[in-house]
Amino acid sequence: MNFFSFKKRASIPSFAVMTGGTGGIGCEVAEILLEQGWDVLLLTRRPGKAEEQVSSRKGRFEAIFCDLAQPVDLETVSAAVLQRKKPIGLLIHCAGKIQPESAGNITRVSLEEQTTINLTSPILMTSQLLPALSPKAHIVFVNSIAGVMPLQGSSVYSATKFGLRGFARSLALEFKPKTIQVEGSKNR
Ligand SMILES: NC(=O)c1ccc[n+]([C@@H]2O[C@H](COP(=O)([O-])OP(=O)(O)OC[C@H]3O[C@@H](n4cnc5c(N)ncnc54)[C@H](OP(=O)(O)O)[C@@H]3O)[C@@H](O)[C@H]2O)c1
Repeated sequence: MNFFSFKKRASIPSFAVMTGGTGGIGCEVAEILLEQGWDVLLLTRRPGKAEEQVSSRKGRFEAIFCDLAQPVDLETVSAAVLQRKKPIGLLIHCAGKIQPESAGNITRVSLEEQTTINLTSPILMTSQLLPALSPKAHIVFVNSIAGVMPLQGSSVYSATKFGLRGFARSLALEFKPKTIQVEGSKNR
């Protein structure tokens, strides 16, 4: 099986853009990337916390404010990243939100929040940042077993993760003749 490795490759620019880097999984991923010598740009609502968490000093680390639930933030940040004219080698969508609730208790607020953070924003951000992606870039969608097997009591979360997998798989087909790699798209 061909597992994705964060090891830097000469053919890919060592600039990584990621969300969710202040969370349990994302924080570990960011540390690994920095240890491998990547320059990491983290999009977060808590840049201060992100700076505090990072212990590695190998790669360059920067955290900027972005609330993924706000389309305006997404556009502003995407435009700022494009302006840097620095090819992205790795785009990691790790931010996520789970709100366990029974079907009778689903509210519009929790539906919109989970859908926006887990599905809409990774789709829009991918689209907006495409011009900045290196032709050999990797796009990683951090998914969940809930995106393969339904999770009882978290139907909205499951729906968003199934959707995210569908997007990743379609994207993989779209890029197949080219070289951008999409991770999180395998038929598992
Ligand atoms: N933990 C698990 O057991 C598990 C299992 C399967 C899959 N996953 C998936 O793995 C990923 C990471 O999970 P985790 O448990 O490490 O997450 P976590 O500890 O709950 O942290 C959530 C992350 O998402 C970011 N985030 C949430 N809302 C945001 C918003 N509106 N704007 C910007 N960022 C936002 C947070 O960043 P800020 O608060 O700094 O903005 C934080 O970094 C998620 O996609 C999750 O669905 C997790």
